[in-house]
Amino acid sequence: MGLKSKDLLGMKQLDKEEIMEILDTAKTMKLVISSGNKKTSHLQGKSVVTLFYENSTRTRLSFELASKYMGSASANITTSGSSVNKGESLLDTARTIDMMGTDIIIMRHSQSGAPHFLAPYLNASIVNAGDGMNEHPTQALLDMLTMYERFDTFEGKEIAILGDIYHSRVVRSNIIGLSKLGAKVRVYGPKTMMPIGIEEMGAYVAKSVEDCCDGADAVMGLRVQLERMQSSLFPSVAEYSKYYGITKEALDLAKPDAFLMHPGPCNHGVEIPTDVYDCDKSVINEQVTNGVAVRMAVLYLLTARRNSL
Ligand code: CP
Repeated sequence: MGLKSKDLLGMKQLDKEEIMEILDTAKTMKLVISSGNKKTSHLQGKSVVTLFYENSTRTRLSFELASKYMGSASANITTSGSSVNKGESLLDTARTIDMMGTDIIIMRHSQSGAPHFLAPYLNASIVNAGDGMNEHPTQALLDMLTMYERFDTFEGKEIAILGDIYHSRVVRSNIIGLSKLGAKVRVYGPKTMMPIGIEEMGAYVAKSVEDCCDGADAVMGLRVQLERMQSSLFPSVAEYSKYYGITKEALDLAKPDAFLMHPGPCNHGVEIPTDVYDCDKSVINEQVTNGVAVRMAVLYLLTARRNSL
């Protein structure tokens, strides 16, 4: 029981058995959360620190709730209000947190590879909560949990992911993870937002929104990440929404029991019209709920590994 590595750096580093162990553990954690008494003692005597160099609502709060539900001492550090603003380096900051006896550091950083760089220097386990445009493994795991609750198997399932593929660490983690479980991922978005090499990762690049959604088992929209763009990659919001938005008609081309996902936060009326976002096929709110269960599972399995050494 437990993960093979000290750290959770990406879906790349997890094998199929570890992914399924996280998903099965998360199902149990979801029962705990819904039982009326969310408290467990799995992390009693442990400490968890969130270290976020980028903004977050869902990931940071769900990790904080998960660690508190499981009884750990927890704290958070952001760039504003810490010595990062005095110029302290990433390594010095992480070593300082480590030397206070922290067991698990959950970090988000704008640089791809930042958690991979830190991990060998630290006794604490590092969890990647999003590194640049590289990976966001716990988001992919909560997306997979939401699918797992509806699929009997991932084998042969067709997952359509549409939007700003280029800037998305969520799509990269999902392609890697879903492929390991036997699912197939199709992607679609403006050519200016389609990274070179996405097909080599195992994704099919669709020709239109309709081509991407046609016969899919699940459809996922991605946020247009304006904050990562140096210049505009599409002519206007109106044109983006017209040519790349997930309309009701496009969603109806997916399998009858297909569902709509989005990692959030959403630009309403850009990647998804608001009435589609809230339609009865939408499981977007459920993804948020599943985020806490998945993060409890990750903290539990990393702690089990640490305890076994
Ligand atoms: N999906 C996601 O990572 O959301 P936050 O940026 O709010 O954490």
